[in-house]
Formats: sequence, structure tokens, C-alpha cells
Amino acid sequence: MKHIDLTSHVTGTSQYVDDIPLAEGTLHAAVFGSPVAHGRLNQLQLAKALAYPGVAAILTSTDVPGDNQIGGIIPDEPLLAESDLHFMGQPIALVLADSDFAAREARSLIEVAIEELEPVVRPREAYAKGLIIGRERTFSMGDPDSAFAAAAHVFEGCGSCGGQEHLYIETQGAYAFPTESGHLRIVSSTQGPTAVQRTVARVLGIPMHNIEVDVRRLGGGFGGKEDQATPWAVMAALAAQVLNRPIKLVLHRLDDMAMTGKRHPYEFDYRIGLDDAFKIVAYDVQFYQDAGAAADLSPAVLERTLFHFTNTYFVPHARARAASCRTNVTPHTAFRGFGGPQGMFAIECAIAHAADELGVTPKTIQAANLLAEGDTFPYGQVAEHARAKACWAALAEHAKLQELEASVRSYNQDHVLSKRGIALMPICFGISFTKTHMNQAGALVHVYQDGSVSISTGAVEMGQGVSTKMVQVAAREFGIPASSVRIETTNTTRVANTSPSAASASADLNGKALQRACAKVAGRMMDVAASILKCERSLLRTQGNCVLRDNQPTGLNFHDLASACYLQRVNLSAFSHYATPGVHFDANQEQGHPFAYHVYGCAAVMATVDGLRGTYEFDLVYIAHDFGSSINPDVDLGQAEGGLVQGLGWMTCEELYYDDRGRLRSNALSTYKVPDVYAAPKEIIVDFLDLPGSPAAIYQSKAIGEPPLMYGIGGFFAIREALKAFGAYLPFVAPVTHERVLMAVAQKVPFGKHAGACE
Ligand code: MTE
Ligand code: HPA
Ligand code: MOS
Repeated sequence: MKHIDLTSHVTGTSQYVDDIPLAEGTLHAAVFGSPVAHGRLNQLQLAKALAYPGVAAILTSTDVPGDNQIGGIIPDEPLLAESDLHFMGQPIALVLADSDFAAREARSLIEVAIEELEPVVRPREAYAKGLIIGRERTFSMGDPDSAFAAAAHVFEGCGSCGGQEHLYIETQGAYAFPTESGHLRIVSSTQGPTAVQRTVARVLGIPMHNIEVDVRRLGGGFGGKEDQATPWAVMAALAAQVLNRPIKLVLHRLDDMAMTGKRHPYEFDYRIGLDDAFKIVAYDVQFYQDAGAAADLSPAVLERTLFHFTNTYFVPHARARAASCRTNVTPHTAFRGFGGPQGMFAIECAIAHAADELGVTPKTIQAANLLAEGDTFPYGQVAEHARAKACWAALAEHAKLQELEASVRSYNQDHVLSKRGIALMPICFGISFTKTHMNQAGALVHVYQDGSVSISTGAVEMGQGVSTKMVQVAAREFGIPASSVRIETTNTTRVANTSPSAASASADLNGKALQRACAKVAGRMMDVAASILKCERSLLRTQGNCVLRDNQPTGLNFHDLASACYLQRVNLSAFSHYATPGVHFDANQEQGHPFAYHVYGCAAVMATVDGLRGTYEFDLVYIAHDFGSSINPDVDLGQAEGGLVQGLGWMTCEELYYDDRGRLRSNALSTYKVPDVYAAPKEIIVDFLDLPGSPAAIYQSKAIGEPPLMYGIGGFFAIREALKAFGAYLPFVAPVTHERVLMAVAQKVPFGKHAGACE
């Protein structure tokens, strides 16, 4: 089945927040942000801005009727700054005018008096100053100290990986409408409608039932709208309540890039111990997460780094420490992988380091340490249906890995100015929100008397295809064609208390709730069918709109059955709830069973580096991925390809550059380079591993949203291998931009110089 938005996307008729026809009396909002990364706000002069034609009002923290606080995990983030300024772009005031242009012009007339303070822009510096958010966490298994003492080989070093701009095509935005009796209807480009509703209630000091949040779809979220769609919706709601006018707030790209958080940059120190058979006997790592100026989701992201710090390897003695370090940049947030990619990058660096020193390829070490069935993760969960070795083997066979490697060797013999490298990237990603209570969802289904079906769930469509999958679930449960099913907007009055669409879990959680709701209605309908057809209900099923008895048509179709049910006063609607069974985690012991299941896979990435220019291309990426029994191979393939390319971008060309004053200099598409069609691999081949998925996955179709991003890490190491062929050393600093490659080739830093990565 095709993605249900396919035609409207291609014809440009899909609606986003900015496409909503303007309601009469609408005011447009522009956000005035802090001009400094760290300082104290002494005075705000609004007179000139207020005098600008068309300006209706300017709101500041003093206009907030409830709690001026949007922090979800830790209450450390005001909606509008009071006196302390913590990052450049931090919202201070909201200008409301009768046009977007007027709001922005007036904004430029706001004057401030600020006492500027020294910003902290590096996580290690923040850590040294004790600027830590929440508590430092330690995951540990076995006895790493003794294991290091006994290890044949021990290597230590450090590295870092950069942040990443989400670059959703639709920028952050919301449109708030006061309806009546203090009720607000908010259309928001959010992954978390309930988060918006809850936070509006808190900031406005009104009950949640007075707020309706509605989402049709997002033009991309990638985690950037899990928590950080909220402030813009709250600002629109605040102004709507104060001024009793519809308020539209859609960020321009430059504001969006300057004011919103990104993937967390990390720095790390590692130590790895191996025996003579290349078994990793001990691994120890310390992570310094650049959390930005407020907690946002950082503690949860940090936790997932710890869940994935051994990637898909079994390490009997392992320890990881991690701290969220408070710096003076935008509060960083969820981004596809949610801290997992950073944890996995670190261990791949440690493995590459050991491989350099031991004179083997990283592949030798990777292969010797893959997780096996029954192995324990450092957080206590046992690997069940472990597919690490199966994916590795499938890749080696289907990609004809040995031939590929031989072709790389001969290419490198034949070429002086360009060299090739190949790297393997096995992955393992845990599926479930790591906060156990978030693993729940709801769904509402109506069968109308003409047999057409309407479904609502808590899932938000952001391009990943979850709406398509929900339609498939309902069609399958009722035995009707997908064209008979309509998916409604995600709306807090139809499905309440939802978790954000995140953690790759939306299809599983909402799909299972929907499956239950459909089964309730379908069960009632089949009782009616059995009475009409005067037969055992167990003999009946529906397929392609027809009710079948013993697989033979009965002449009764789904529409007629629906009207018969209506006439017999049978309830044709149902709501159901689903909560993932068996997941738990004790954050004091740092032990538990946090994931419903794991997704595995393995990629081979081949890159060619031009030693004269420092440029590179990805010639080929081969992936063996554990999809389970995919319910929509086209959608899932799109997720695999898109995730891979986004991961490659993070590791290679996407560079967030902050200057010493905490100003983001790569703040536009002219200076922040995302992979385009030319930077994407020339060939991407994805093999569907032919093994059943977990029963915790909807129809055993495994979660797909995030895991493929981590294949992109292989891109860094493919380039690194090519550099080795030049005799050049690449430190463990991502992204490996063309400039960094050129410097590596030119400087030909000798191997073994692993210092310098983290200065
Ligand atoms: N794919 C598209 N096209 N757009 C997106 O914004 N977000 C990713 C992933 N794939 C995203 C995407 C992220 S961060 C997550 S967590 C999952 O989709 C969320 O959707 P799911 O739970 O349905 O997989
Ligand atoms: N993944 C993504 N988003 C989340 C998670 C998670 O594990 N926990 C809270 N928000
Ligand atoms: Mo995805 S980072 O869990 O929104």
C-alpha cells in the first residue's frame, strides 16, 4: 500500500500549519530572542516597537497568568525570559501585529539593556565548573577494573561528535483560536499534542479540558518537535488568551535554526581492553553531553546513550558514566536515535583505535564480539531473538563482502590520488520509551452506518508513514479495503493522554490500541452477521468488503452489515488503550527490562576519498536489516534509506559551528550543509532479513523510524579507512567534513596519535 499522503504531497495539496486559511482578526506573532548567550536582562524598552504601525501588543513574562515554566523533566526553562539569559535566541518577548511583516519589523525596534556574562560553550568546560543537569549516571556490568588489569591489550583515547539541525521542511509553528468560554483550539506542528496541551494548561493556569490540540501532519519532526514544538504553541495560546484573537506563530527558517535545540553534541573518553583473540574483555567510557542551557529532554537522551554504549556487542565488563553538561547554547533535544547514536559512535571509535594498534581492520574486532542469544546488556536485560550475527552473516553473503573488499584493495593499488575505504556498521536499538509509563496509547474507531470507517489514534504523521500503517491495521481488522478507512487528525479531545510520536514506537503502541478497538467493533458486527446468516460466528470472516462463510461469499457485505447493526442498535464505536507489557526499569539500580524488543541490522559503507580536494563520495551502502514481517515494505524501505542518509549527514557534512560568544555561525542553509541527492550514496541496497519480528511489534512488523540512522556512523569509518590507505590518520572527531579530510591527508598525522581529538 502506498503512503496515503503520496498524492497530496506530490500535488502540493497536503496542509500544514502555514496553509490554514487566515481566520478573521488573526494577529501574527514574532519572537524576540536574547542577543547574547549569557547575561542579565536589566531593561526592556518596547515603546518604539509598540509604536510601529499594525502592532497590537508585546507580551513578556509578566503577562503569563499561570506558571512561566515549560521544563518537562526538570522545571528549569521559562517560557519567556525573566532576568537571566542563558542562550542566544532565548525568547524574551512576543510581538503581535496584523501582519507577519509588521511583527518582524517591530521586533527589530525592541531595545534591551543587558549585562553580558561569559558564556560556556564546551561541555567539558561546563563539567569542570560543576554545571551539571540532573545527576551523573553510571551503568556497569561485571568488574571492569580487574578485567582491564588482566587484559592483554588496553587502549585509551577520546573523541567527539557534533550536533545536528533537524531541518524539518516545515518550521515550528502553531495557530491558536479562542473559541468560547475560555476554551482554546490549537493547531500545532507537534509530535506531542498532549505535551502542548499540558504545558498550555500550566502556563495559562487553566484545566487541560479547556485546550484542544489538533495535528493533521508535520512536514518532518525528527525529534525536533517532540518537546520543542511546545513553546511556540504555548506562546500563540498565551497571546490568544490575553488578546482574545486568533494568533498565528510560524517561525522563519533563520529564527528556527537560531532558537531551537538540536541533536546533542558529545565528547567522550574511552578505554578498551582486548584479549589476543580480539574479544573485548573490558570497556569504560565517560560521556560529556552538551545539554545546552536547559534540561529539555537531555536527561532522557543521556539515559539512552547509556542503554546503547556497547552497541550490538557483548562486553562482559563494561562501565559507562555520563553527565548532562549545561552550556550557553540552545537547549538540545530529541533527534532520531535519541542519544543512542552518540553512545554507539564512541564504542566504534574505541574499536577502530584498537584495530589501528593491533594491525587489523575494525571488522575483525566487530565480528569477534557480536551479541549472541542470551547475552546480557549492561542494564540487565537479556538479548532475546538476537539477530546481530544473523544480520552480519546475511550482509557478508548478500553484499559479497570479500569480493567488495578485494575490489577496494585493487582500487587502492591502482590509484594514487584517490583511495577507497569500506566499513561495517552493525547496530542494535532498543524499542520502547525508556520512561516506562510513556509506553501507552489509545485509539478510537467509528464504523458509520454506510460501512465507512473513521479512525483516530495518538500517533502523529510526520512523514514516517504511521497514518498509512494505522489505515492498514483497521482495514486488516475489519477485512475491508484501505479505501474504506479514513484516518482523522490527531486530536486531544478524541484520544487523550497520549505520548509523543517518538522512540520509533508509534506504530506499535497506537497500532495495538487500534487493533483492539477495531476488534471490539468487528466482534459485535460479526455477532449480528451470525444472526442474519443463522450460522456459527466462528465460520464467518470479512474480506474485501464481503462477509464470507467457510471462505465462501454469503451475499452480505460490510456496508449492509453496518446498517443492519445500526438498525439493531448495536454500538459501532469503540475506544481502546494499550500499554506495553513487561517493560520496567529501576533508575536507582540502573537495571531492568526497559525494551519490548531490539532491532538489529548491519551495513557496509564504501567511500572514495579524493586526496587532492578532500572531497568524498559514498559509492555503495549495503544493508541487511531486521524489519521483522514488514507490514509496509515501501514505507519501511523509505525509512531505512532516509535514516541512513540523515545519519551520514550527521557524521560527515553537517557542522554546527558556535563561536566563542555562543553564536551559531552555521545558521542558514548557505552555511549548514545537509546531504543532497549528490551527497547521498550512489547506490543503496537494503536486504530484508527474512526472520519473524517480535510479538510486541504490530503484526510482528518491527519499529523502523530510528534504527537505520545509525548505519550512517559507518560513513565516518569508511572515510577513515580510505584515509588510512593514504597513510593518513583521522582523529575521532565527527563530522568529518571535506575540510577535515583535506587536513588529515595534508598533515599525514602518524598513527597512534590518538590525543588531540578532544582538545
Ligand atoms: N521520517 C520522516 N519522514 N519524518 C520524520 O520526522 N522522524 C523520525 C522517524 N522517521 C521522522 C521520520 C523519528 S525521530 C522517529 S522517533 C520516528 O520516525 C517516529 O515515528 P514512528 O514512531 O512512527 O517510527
Ligand atoms: N525515545 C524518544 N523519545 C523519548 C524517549 C525515548 O526513549 N523517552 C522520552 N522521550
Ligand atoms: Mo524520535 S528522536 O524519538 O522523535
